[in-house]
Amino acid sequence: MPERRRSSDEVKWIDRWLAACADLDELKRSNPMTDAVIDEIDGRRIRVGDQWLADFASCNYLGFDLDREIMDSIPAQVERWGTHPSWSRLLGSPTLFGEIEEHLTELLGCEDTLVLPTITHIHMAVIPVLAAGGTVFMDSRAHKTIYDGCQFAVARGASLKRFRFEDPDDLERLLIEDRSDHRLVCMDGVNSITGNAPDLAAFARVTRRHGALLYVDDAHGFGVIGERSPSELSPYGSRGNSIVRHLDETYEGLILVGGFSKAYSSLAAFIACPTPLKEMLKTAAPPYLYSGPPPVASLATTLAGFDVNARRGDELRRVLHERTGRVLDALRRIGVRTLNHSGFPIIEIPLSDHRDIGSVGRFLFDNGIYVTLAAYPLVPKDEVGFRIQVTAANGDDEIDELIDVLDRLARRFELQRPDELREAA
Ligand SMILES: Cc1ncc(COP(=O)(O)O)c(C=O)c1O
Repeated sequence: MPERRRSSDEVKWIDRWLAACADLDELKRSNPMTDAVIDEIDGRRIRVGDQWLADFASCNYLGFDLDREIMDSIPAQVERWGTHPSWSRLLGSPTLFGEIEEHLTELLGCEDTLVLPTITHIHMAVIPVLAAGGTVFMDSRAHKTIYDGCQFAVARGASLKRFRFEDPDDLERLLIEDRSDHRLVCMDGVNSITGNAPDLAAFARVTRRHGALLYVDDAHGFGVIGERSPSELSPYGSRGNSIVRHLDETYEGLILVGGFSKAYSSLAAFIACPTPLKEMLKTAAPPYLYSGPPPVASLATTLAGFDVNARRGDELRRVLHERTGRVLDALRRIGVRTLNHSGFPIIEIPLSDHRDIGSVGRFLFDNGIYVTLAAYPLVPKDEVGFRIQVTAANGDDEIDELIDVLDRLARRFELQRPDELREAA
């Protein structure tokens, strides 16, 4: 087939993008820890070719992907509904959807919820609707899928302004300057790179003060952190009902988005919002009308996940907190900096020299540790490094191995020193 000629705008955009992704592309070609084929799993250990590794790159925080009770929930629902309801949701939703939305609404303590296939679908569909041709104020380090949703809103006539990461004062400055009728603030809950939560109360205060709407993606908080209570088993709180409940915020002027594809190990996502908005999104948000829904197996495991979460979730979160704490304590002891100051299970370790990323990745792989490599442009150059994600299914033996390898890594490569040591130097 003859190659289509690219317009000069297209050429510039693609060339810029390829140049920005050169480091990542080099890693993809040269490092076994990117674009890997996983040949086999055994618990939280994986085999890539001949190498068995302890997996610290999974986002299955509660270990539901390997939970026998959850796995066993699938056959009966598939028997009843077949493998996949291929109606779009507007055409027809198996009763499983209603059951999930009912459970979820109770769990989150919000007015209503709507389930769609993925968070990416939700951002692309809902951000343009909520922006309504006004202004979107986006956290400058928001997740790429939020950024893409904002770009879509811009294509529909909205303006886009960015506020500085973790800086509610900067957001307020922008909100004071801009008097558009529709103003939407988009940001992450628990950040997928730093592992920390924003000062949600401060952002909610500023947003409400200026009559804007706050839109929060808590992909990594949902299932992990939840409401605080005197009887909680760990500082992650109880029930895993997300950042809004964890920080004792309300849903007034706040839309929460989350997903089941991390802590609940199921392909589905949700938006928590008032019922009139839910009803409006059923016709205004394309995935409800046009996209295939999540598969029955995922609907089954989501429902079973609610059950297991209610009975065993807090104990799993206690284990998760304890194992994450062991890794964070070891980093302090070894004298290595991490961006994580929350104790949540995402632990990013930046390198001193971003050019070491390939050899650091190779060292970890050769020593049986599988992590996410955070290359430029996924993170700024001074944060290039690797990210450890701990799950409740990582055994203490795997944590021991990780700590041993981190200790050896710190002696072999130059890693950044903890903030307190850098300040003292
Ligand atoms: C913060 C955040 N938002 C959205 C997504 C994408 O979620 P989904 O796979 O449901 O589209 C991710 C996935 O890594 C994420 O980390």
